[in-house]
Amino acid sequence: MTIGQDAQSLTPNGRSRTPYPKVRRMRFRFGQPEPMQHRFVQDDIPLTHLIAVLSGAFPPGEESFIRSVRKFSDEITDPVLKKRVAGFIGQEAVHGQQHRVLNDMLIDNGFPIVRIFTFDRDALRERGLVALENAVPRQVHLAVTAAAEHYTATLAKRVLGTQEIQDIPGDPEVLNLLNWHAFEELEHKSVAFDVFRDRGGAEVVRIGVMAGMYVFTIPVVSLGVLASILSDPSSWRPFKVVRQTIRLYRGPIVKGLLKEMRPYLRPGFHPDDIDTTALLEAWRQELFGAHGELVDRIG
Ligand SMILES: [Fe+2]
Ligand SMILES: [Fe+2]
Repeated sequence: MTIGQDAQSLTPNGRSRTPYPKVRRMRFRFGQPEPMQHRFVQDDIPLTHLIAVLSGAFPPGEESFIRSVRKFSDEITDPVLKKRVAGFIGQEAVHGQQHRVLNDMLIDNGFPIVRIFTFDRDALRERGLVALENAVPRQVHLAVTAAAEHYTATLAKRVLGTQEIQDIPGDPEVLNLLNWHAFEELEHKSVAFDVFRDRGGAEVVRIGVMAGMYVFTIPVVSLGVLASILSDPSSWRPFKVVRQTIRLYRGPIVKGLLKEMRPYLRPGFHPDDIDTTALLEAWRQELFGAHGELVDRIG
């Protein structure tokens, strides 16, 4: 898709523009008809590993997001918010399911780090994560979800709204998955936030949690990418890795990301203050319109 003028703009009172998140039971066809290449982002070691690490982390992360919202869902009385929560939970569940399909292939294709994230519901790590979530007040757990959702929405807006990112050559089905995931992240970007607010979440908690995640997320993800590169002998090309990592940090995916996130730290901020309506509409047509690219992936 060719992207025209950037649809992003800050608007003062943009409430209720976000439609109900629609649950689409997607079935991607990774490795068909051509087998997936190990380096599925062409000739880019750190970006390939960044996507692998994020894909690995999404399923357990999204299950944690769902659990955080469910801790409050019985208390929501607003029928509109109830319906949005149902859409949010359904979308995140399908995201996790489809990323697991990709993750199985990534493990087979030489990304052992992805295995760390693929554990069954009863596994020790799963129980450890749930225990950690339950060790903090449920309001804090939900604030983590709201902050993480703002990270994903900010990245999603970049992915869908930047032609340079769309032009990155890579495995077409992985790119389809990422575009669909980014699209639905924008569709439900304010649901967890609105549950937090509806259930009386405190601004100081919301902002405090984001302040921590603001500082630590990029370094933690970077360490994950480094670990992934070290676990893959075919990526042991230090000069190339350093050169491409500098390019990645200076490129349209990462550069300016923290600055773009900063409005969330402002008291009174709402995710719908950032208008992504036109971007969503353009991509709705592109992916799921009458001749949408992904209509035939809906199962
Ligand atoms: Fe998601
Ligand atoms: Fe999400």
